[in-house]
Amino acid sequence: MCKFMITGGQTLNGELTVSGSKNAVLPIICATVLAGGPCTIENIPNIADVHSMLNILKKLGADVEKLDKNTIKIDTTNINTYEATFDLVSKLRGSYYLMGAFLGRFGKAVVSLPGGCKLGTRPIDQHLKGFQALGVDIEEAYGKITAETYDKEGLMYANNIYLDVVSVGATINLMLAACRAAGQTVIENCAREPHVVDVANFLNSMGAKIRGAGTDIIKITGVPHLHGVQTYSVIPDQIEAGTYMIAAAATGGNVTVKNIIPRHQESLTAKLLEMNVGVEEGEDWIRIYNNGVIQAANVKTLPYPGFPTDMQPQITVLLSLADGTSKIVESVTDFRFQYTEELKRMGADITVNGKMAMVSGPKKLKGMTVQAPDLRGGAALIIGALAAEGETMIQDVQFIDRGYDDIVGKLQSVGAKIVRVEDDD
Ligand code: EPZ
Repeated sequence: MCKFMITGGQTLNGELTVSGSKNAVLPIICATVLAGGPCTIENIPNIADVHSMLNILKKLGADVEKLDKNTIKIDTTNINTYEATFDLVSKLRGSYYLMGAFLGRFGKAVVSLPGGCKLGTRPIDQHLKGFQALGVDIEEAYGKITAETYDKEGLMYANNIYLDVVSVGATINLMLAACRAAGQTVIENCAREPHVVDVANFLNSMGAKIRGAGTDIIKITGVPHLHGVQTYSVIPDQIEAGTYMIAAAATGGNVTVKNIIPRHQESLTAKLLEMNVGVEEGEDWIRIYNNGVIQAANVKTLPYPGFPTDMQPQITVLLSLADGTSKIVESVTDFRFQYTEELKRMGADITVNGKMAMVSGPKKLKGMTVQAPDLRGGAALIIGALAAEGETMIQDVQFIDRGYDDIVGKLQSVGAKIVRVEDDD
């Protein structure tokens, strides 16, 4: 296992470039299972979850060729199975997208239940409800889902689906399955995240007919065939961008975050301005600068375009450094405050009560040894360590490597004192 050693107290200055979106590229890689030929995908982030997903496809029989550091060519023509076993998928929540892709291609899917960050219960009942509406029989037993169309030719039939919960995963999984369902499928109460739009755009570049992605109603007209894609570039990662914006603010620095879509950051930008953080916005960049005392603010996580749950740990660190009392309500994910235990050991004043946390500041954080509980909790601890006095050792950084491309190198490039330490065990 690796660790990060961080010496706090350095203000971050300079500029860094954001990589492609983890939460877009994972379903896009799965979507290539539907293509009748090779797909070339650009702006792929170099992260553990992508490596895991590509390994799954290779083990299923796909041909995966790395054209350069961030470009891959995937040809799934030779995939001849619709089964993804536990050993393949256990670590990766995004592997549930294989269900929609296998159903769309074979009319069958046998996929082990997903893994991923421990964020409370993470059901997939809305995915399964949607598949059933499309004419799929679902069996759940022994930790895996067995899905098969009633139609013996493997065809699904369009339907109207109303999601009981706004779910990124269910919205994307049902788009994947409905691409080839006969007729027009209408999905209502959809997630509107930028990565939902990116997956829809990728599928349309394969010949799918998807309209309305980015709104709460998506219409999918089934087509008999989907073809390969000459080239497709994944959108920038809005959560990676936001993480660096908050790290800059937490150290009182002056950092330009480049290769982003500012509109995707709107809820964070508005919150940072409310907290008296300096924000300047360009065409494809945002500059964060020190504008004096950071003020407390209240945050409630919501589906996009609300404040993203994936930014909740990071903003909580900044609120610990802010002047005043802040209230954070986590309304999307079941339980996502694990990281606060470590932050409190560093000196933060946080009281968690169910889905709500009260934060009082400003608090001086002190460096020490801490453990990353999950991907975004780990990123939050990095931000705390950068702002803290003294040295911090963060353990279990494999969680962070799942979703951040070269976070050590990017932070070093703006002056952070951070190094990756290989464990001697
Ligand atoms: C995706 O998870 C992301 N993961 C998560 O990012 C992100 O936190 C989440 O969307 C919300 O934006 C990937 O894209 C791989 P959901 P997902 O379905 O699809 C409930 C990160 O940090 N729900 O939108 O699992 C669910 O329990 C990761 O990058 C049901 O009740 O999230 C949750 O409370 C962490 N039934 C809420 O909906 C379902 O069938 C939102 O879940 C599905 C979800």
